[in-house]
Amino acid sequence: MTRPWIGQDLARLDGRKKVTGAATYAAETAVAQVAHAIIVGATIGRGTITAIATAEAERSPGVLAVITHASAPMLPAARGKSKPQDRVIQALQDDEVRYHDQPIAVVVAETLEQAQHAAALVTATYDEVAVIADLAADLGAAIVPEAGNGPSKADSRRGDVDAALAAAPIRLDLAYTTPVETHNPMEPHATIAVWRGPDQLTLYDSTQGVFTVRRRLAEIFGLDVGRVRVINHFVGGGFGGKGAPWSHVTLAAMAAKVTGRPVKLVLTRAQLQSLVGHRPRTLQTLALGADRAGRLMAIRHDVVSETSRFDQFTESCAAVTRMLYACPAVATSHRLVPIDIPTPTYMRAPGESTGTFALESALDELSYQLRMDPLTLRRVNHAVVDPQDGKPWSSKSLLACYQAGADRFGWAGRPPTTRARRDGGWLLGSGVATATRPAPQQPASARATLTADGHVLVQAGTQDIGTGTYTVMTQVAADALGAPMDAVTFELGDTALPEAPSSVGSFTATSVSAAVHRACRQLVGELAGLAIADPRSPLHGLTPAAIGNQDGALFALAEPARRDPFAAVLGRSGKAALVTEAHTEAGPDRALYSLHAFGAIFAAVRVDPAIGELRVDRLVGAFAAGTILNARTARSQLVGGMVWGLGMAMREHSVRDLRTARMVTRDLADYHVPVHADVPPIDVILVPEEDKVVNELGVKGIGEIGVTGVAAAIANAVHHAVGVRVRELPIRREHLLDTPA
Ligand code: MOS
Repeated sequence: MTRPWIGQDLARLDGRKKVTGAATYAAETAVAQVAHAIIVGATIGRGTITAIATAEAERSPGVLAVITHASAPMLPAARGKSKPQDRVIQALQDDEVRYHDQPIAVVVAETLEQAQHAAALVTATYDEVAVIADLAADLGAAIVPEAGNGPSKADSRRGDVDAALAAAPIRLDLAYTTPVETHNPMEPHATIAVWRGPDQLTLYDSTQGVFTVRRRLAEIFGLDVGRVRVINHFVGGGFGGKGAPWSHVTLAAMAAKVTGRPVKLVLTRAQLQSLVGHRPRTLQTLALGADRAGRLMAIRHDVVSETSRFDQFTESCAAVTRMLYACPAVATSHRLVPIDIPTPTYMRAPGESTGTFALESALDELSYQLRMDPLTLRRVNHAVVDPQDGKPWSSKSLLACYQAGADRFGWAGRPPTTRARRDGGWLLGSGVATATRPAPQQPASARATLTADGHVLVQAGTQDIGTGTYTVMTQVAADALGAPMDAVTFELGDTALPEAPSSVGSFTATSVSAAVHRACRQLVGELAGLAIADPRSPLHGLTPAAIGNQDGALFALAEPARRDPFAAVLGRSGKAALVTEAHTEAGPDRALYSLHAFGAIFAAVRVDPAIGELRVDRLVGAFAAGTILNARTARSQLVGGMVWGLGMAMREHSVRDLRTARMVTRDLADYHVPVHADVPPIDVILVPEEDKVVNELGVKGIGEIGVTGVAAAIANAVHHAVGVRVRELPIRREHLLDTPA
């Protein structure tokens, strides 16, 4: 088919609204009579509440209610979770404190300031229990995770790893760690809850999944799902932390119910560090065996990560190790250590970002043992089929990514030894790593409505979390309709629209584009039917085969007034509008193939060992992820992912007080993300790739792959510069100070 719009470098359709403030985020929704709620958090890490003093807060000006476990309505369904990606939440249902900052009260007042003031007047006493705040303190308590989170299975094994490691002429045993990282989107989590009658709940919620929030809140409040509507037109960043409704959503709805008022609840920056999940700390051990030609003979990758005592989340670091390289013997495991913390959750490229740090660092270490170029080592171990099951890849352009990235970066001629290049007091180095992410697809629905003015409204209950959904779905629809972009409006972010999946897992583009494409093609088909039957239409009497499958046929016949045939045919048909709805599931061929996107990351760094200063000079990422829907928004996602990876390498690190399990890093002054001065020129190369399996448009998704491999590429470049191997993120000055000359 011809696709004049798909792939174009087009500015976001919602860009002007966002930069002018016209885009309305959840907390900005104008709701009459809205009251303001503030969560009061526990000041211990574990124990039981013995008393909560609320009288002073209740007397404070403007206060409408102070809700504690003693007064909160009981919500039996709030205690568990209904789907694996749900989290067990804390909604004032008992007197137990499971983690520091857990909600123990909600204060509702007429104004935000009154709520904040009154919240500061609530005090509690506790029976306190000693906490364990770091998994390393309790490794003996490690458990096998239940199915349903993390990798498809906790452990994997192919071949005889012990024998292959014993026989390998080259063997490495390595250990890596990654820290707790916390979600810090620009827009904090926020909910406005409005009860329209006792069993009709509307939520304006900053979420990555309006339908996920609807299902969960309906369950918690014992309502039919049809009685809950969730609306969310713009999201100021969501990276997994807004993937499931956390405690505050239920508490906002509860507060609205108790006070009989619409209630707005916005988490503070400090509360984001504890109430909406985090990337768990991981301890990863890797054993590699290789022959002298660099061919991998065995890999063992064992992962331990932290979870809470009441829920499980597994950071699936070793999933990449199972599939990334051709290797006959691979064993992997994931274990969890429950400690006194809130439950971790998905954070952009969960598992692949942390796992590739270990695996791609280990490959680099192996390259030095072999005295082999690290890029050559990766080519030597290139997996032609998925080594887990021998399935063919639906498409794989990794070798092309290596080549394109190496050419752009200028990899050739890189000195093989460390500390080989200098610039004044700086030592210079370069490193490489492979990037990869699965390409999952979920069921999705979409509706297309043609109105008499020739305009097409396309709707799906998906989200635009900053990724460009509004724009790319308009492109997909316009191409499927053979229409100009301005003939199409795309709406999202409302459970009143056809159901679409949560915008997580990099699967919005692939899942929703399939549904949008199909709904629009159905619309063209139905319109063609009307035109064929219409004696005044130029298409009258043609067969559907002659026109129905030709993109743009209806418009093309009416040049130059391109929209006329839509309107004219519809008008003469006597119908006010033509509506089509499509539902798509993952295609059956997908099961026959292994579906992943791949890429290559190249990093250049400089290190001043006198002061331990690390600067990243350059990043190049070459990615192949099937069809790119919009070159500009794709590049934006990939650059953003790489900046995230740079943050993992150099900056992001949440710190807990080991005595209390309190998060010490509570704002962006303490929790460091890359700032402009940290970020070098970043080149993104979009390597062309055709894929006939992933979805009907060949879209794999690019929301997360940009993060993967980056921390390893930077750590590898640091080693190349100074000869120091940093196996712990983030890389800090103390790792690099006084490195031997
Ligand atoms: Mo992503 S971590 O699936 O939002």
